[in-house]
Amino acid sequence: MNDGGNMETRSQFVVDSLQCKIHLSEAQLPTHWYNLAVELPFSIPPPMHPYHERPVSADDFRWLWPAEYLDAELRAGQYANELRIEIPESVHQAYRRYRPTPLVRARGLEAYLDTRAEIYYKREDLNPGGSHKFNTAVAQAHYAAQEGVDTLVTDTGAGQWGTALALACSQFGMNAEIFMVRKSFDEKPYRRGLMKLLGATVLTSPSEATEIGRQVRREDPGSNGSLGIGMSEAIELVRTSPHRKLALGCMSYHAALHQTIIGLEVRAQLELIDRWPDVMIGCVGGGSNFVGFTAPFLFAAPSGRTMEFIAAEPEQIPCLTVGEYRYDWADYNRQTPRLAMYTLGSDFLPPPIHAGGLRYHAKNPVLSALVKHRIVGSRSYPQGDVFTAGQLFLRTEGILPAPESAHAVLAAIEVARDAGQKKNHRPVIVFCLSGHGYLDLQGYMDVLGHS
Ligand SMILES: Cc1ncc(COP(=O)(O)O)c(C=O)c1O
Repeated sequence: MNDGGNMETRSQFVVDSLQCKIHLSEAQLPTHWYNLAVELPFSIPPPMHPYHERPVSADDFRWLWPAEYLDAELRAGQYANELRIEIPESVHQAYRRYRPTPLVRARGLEAYLDTRAEIYYKREDLNPGGSHKFNTAVAQAHYAAQEGVDTLVTDTGAGQWGTALALACSQFGMNAEIFMVRKSFDEKPYRRGLMKLLGATVLTSPSEATEIGRQVRREDPGSNGSLGIGMSEAIELVRTSPHRKLALGCMSYHAALHQTIIGLEVRAQLELIDRWPDVMIGCVGGGSNFVGFTAPFLFAAPSGRTMEFIAAEPEQIPCLTVGEYRYDWADYNRQTPRLAMYTLGSDFLPPPIHAGGLRYHAKNPVLSALVKHRIVGSRSYPQGDVFTAGQLFLRTEGILPAPESAHAVLAAIEVARDAGQKKNHRPVIVFCLSGHGYLDLQGYMDVLGHS
């Protein structure tokens, strides 16, 4: 799209009549993230020390995280009171390579469902990592590089976050060390390969490289691993060397904050076509894409309008639908601060479903509080139905969603089907397509019987 000179007016937006893609120009890319925490009408219980009955201080965890990360988690500095946080230029520059991403009207799916609803999806699959994770990876790499960090260490489920971090580290001249949950390490060799092509070190988790990894392997030689175990391994590695720091793709407030670029774009895109969502849907692993996607809408409904926010999770990992709201650790080995959140217990070992990015025992504290205060609702779905929804999306929209994102597709289908029952109401449903599933084909083939 040409933004120059007298094209300015035309470039405000383009609505393609066939696909109905709603574009923003590069010049309209948001320059700030949306610091939702300052807008919440309730307070979130503070992160507590892992073992002592007191809130954590930054000094407790300087060895683990870059300073900017700690500021965001502890709502210190600008994060304490500024609603808009400026996106650093080098991060904005990286965003400009693939953002703004289109918002698409799902006309094929609507026609198939014969629904009264309008369905839109935000494409977060259009970057080299294939998911929303790069939005925060590049920001975390920027802040770490600024502090002179040499290596970022992390855990990854299906590999999207690991790929995003590997790419971001390669762009900022840092090393990436990635503990990949064994189930995905074995099943998704191409994601593993992509991380290695990007220069990352990739270890299967539980691994032989850490004490906690060896312990889990001793206790359960066939362990599939989990994000919580991978996180414990990453933390142990950081503890042993000052040039390493931890990066987290889903659990942190920091990650969710960076993902607000998604919601800010969606808001501008819907304004262009004079729509306001009735229902917003996202899948939830740690909660970062969901919070980022919905943040600019959560407390902004025009007067007289009600909105529904639906967090979609796997039936086999029912944190929000069945879990308890309480303090718990974010990792398996109880090294992190204790956070107030919905959890199935930090020692919960998630069943080996294919949506590896959702195999996590808890949800981040902001999302958890939004659910506790009934601002956000939740639904859970069985794997077979999720994959069938993903297949339907492929056939009607021409995109294969990541197994994680297919949870959001299924929730949107469910809501759109319900909409058919209510006459005189044409709800606007918007969901976040958090990633593509082209490296998850084996899972689709296995579950849907196409092997
Ligand atoms: C494509 C995709 N969607 C969603 C998620 C879940 O993460 P979050 O809830 O933090 O967005 C992941 C995690 O790896 C993912 O890869």
